[in-house]
Amino acid sequence: MNGPNSAPLDTRVVIGSAVLRNPTIAASGCYNRGAEFGAIVDVSRYGAVTLKSITRHPRLGNDMPRIATTPAGMLNAIGLQGPGIEYFLTHEAPKLTSVPTAVIASVAGFTVDEFADVAAAMDGLPNVVAIELDVSCPNVDREGECFAAEATSLARVVEAVKSRVKLPVIPKLMPNVADLKPIARAAQEAGADAVSLINAVRGMVIDVVRARPMLANRSGGLTGPAIRPIAVHAIWEVAQTITIPIIGIGGVEKGSDALEFLFAGATAIGIGTANFRDPLVHVKVTEAIELEMQRRGASSVGQLTGLAHPGFAGKPGARGAPVATKETQA
Ligand SMILES: Cc1cc2nc3c(=O)[nH]c(=O)nc-3n(C[C@H](O)[C@H](O)[C@H](O)COP(=O)(O)O)c2cc1C
Repeated sequence: MNGPNSAPLDTRVVIGSAVLRNPTIAASGCYNRGAEFGAIVDVSRYGAVTLKSITRHPRLGNDMPRIATTPAGMLNAIGLQGPGIEYFLTHEAPKLTSVPTAVIASVAGFTVDEFADVAAAMDGLPNVVAIELDVSCPNVDREGECFAAEATSLARVVEAVKSRVKLPVIPKLMPNVADLKPIARAAQEAGADAVSLINAVRGMVIDVVRARPMLANRSGGLTGPAIRPIAVHAIWEVAQTITIPIIGIGGVEKGSDALEFLFAGATAIGIGTANFRDPLVHVKVTEAIELEMQRRGASSVGQLTGLAHPGFAGKPGARGAPVATKETQA
């Protein structure tokens, strides 16, 4: 969308060795391989599609009901339903060549070895450019504490996966912690190439007729616009802590939401729940980012990253090299 006299806009973003055509990424669990959406929208307008998290063994997921509506988002407790890595490799992985954009594989596990083994099996699959780690799962070796809740556990997972794969590794951090900063720092020090944040926020809805929790699992993960300010704050804090790229996720529904994430310090934008309501959301977000680049005279999208931080623009960094734009060069 360049004007007749404008310089070409570079919407590419870099996550480790992966170069995405634009900063929009379909979030894990909300897009599968994009095949269902491909019938109605142009999936190639996504910079990448993140697959539903895969575990070592097949999982039936939680009992129904698994989804409840809330005033500004949805609550889900799917329970990592999936076919397991063997079935995935035989039946699903060969179809990844038909995904018309980059693919980010997602791994979930309940032990460090499970993460490392499943990630190693994903490394080198066609079209797969990076591996995201859903570290919000309970660690069975540590009395069920989530890997992403504690810096040492998270670092062990990242180190183990990094030792087994060549692709960029992206742990996905969760907001239900007292302080995200040491956890993000541990991820970077363990060799993570980027971090995704945030995963769903824990919540509950009670059915007042039955006087019982709405979800069979009782609690679930809150997603959608209700969690966007939590995500913006998490991106802001973590951007001041680490230098690797941040994939900001949580409640993005329109262009200005994505700009908030970029200005808070995100390099790329994950979009989950909004796909269910508006399958064109990624196209609208990309176009809004391009318009903002033109408005600010930014030739590359990385120049928008971190703009809201006082004194941040212009600092060289691995996060997309934010540099001063016309408006910040006062
Ligand atoms: C139905 C559903 C299933 C999800 N499954 C996964 C999953 O398997 N792995 C994962 O890392 N995140 C999963 N997520 C979390 C999303 O990837 C994302 O982090 C979260 O929904 C916040 O973004 P949003 O507000 O744009 O939806 C799921 C979210 C939803 C709504």
